Amino acid sequence: LTGMSIPIKSDLELRLMKQACKKAAYVMKKLRAEIKSGVDTEYLNQLAEKIMVKLSCSPAFKGYMGYPRSICISLNNEVVHGLSHAGKVLKEGDIVSIDLGVEYKGFYADMAATFGVGKISQNAQKLINVTKAALYEGIKKAVSGNKLGDISFAIQNCVEYHGYSVVRKFVGHGIGSKLHEEPEIPNFGMPDTGPELKNGMVLAIEPMVNEGGYEVEILADGWTAVTKDGKLSAHFEHTVLIWGMEPRILTEF
Ligand code: MF3
Ligand code: CO
Repeated sequence: LTGMSIPIKSDLELRLMKQACKKAAYVMKKLRAEIKSGVDTEYLNQLAEKIMVKLSCSPAFKGYMGYPRSICISLNNEVVHGLSHAGKVLKEGDIVSIDLGVEYKGFYADMAATFGVGKISQNAQKLINVTKAALYEGIKKAVSGNKLGDISFAIQNCVEYHGYSVVRKFVGHGIGSKLHEEPEIPNFGMPDTGPELKNGMVLAIEPMVNEGGYEVEILADGWTAVTKDGKLSAHFEHTVLIWGMEPRILTEF
């Protein structure tokens, strides 16, 4: 990213993006219905691709910078970019983050959510609730005339108020005819800073929230980011259109 300009989408581009996002949301809904103890992560990965193909779209992450799976599945202390493996199975009490992107007619959709597997601890449930709440606090600030930093600050504020920490190493991003466009959207920052938000901008807002410290490290597979302290992490993401005072969540499911 070069720090240049944030694309404004035309009506035609927005129509295609909305279709892409609807497809992504449908895939997420289907995967959510499969989350239970005993389910293989590689089954979920392949199921996601099958559904995408049926919807005439394709897995945006597959091959992106060499990413070796169709979607990202991150368990417990895994923050993002977790890899499915045959034999890596969901078990009661786990939390599982599913991050998926689709490409449709040259346009991208990106979304993530964290789910509990069966009965989970109160701590884990609170982490999930706070991470989701932080995303929605950020989205509330995604209105025309606000600054990008208003989104970042709202997310950070929500997370830290509840005693959790915001991952620094990964950020949200603009999205459109590329998976990653201008601007970068940190989940921390100061209000009334950064570029002004305008109608027709589309942003993938994605807080990653750690139960303990914000530091992460990358496993030897070259992809999986885990918390340095081994504690839990959660992740929620929506693709959001700036539209007057009413942010449009394009990936609602
Ligand atoms: N939501 C993540 C992102 O925007 C997913 C990318 S995973 C990758 O970076 F495999 F494509 F890298
Ligand atoms: Co993203």
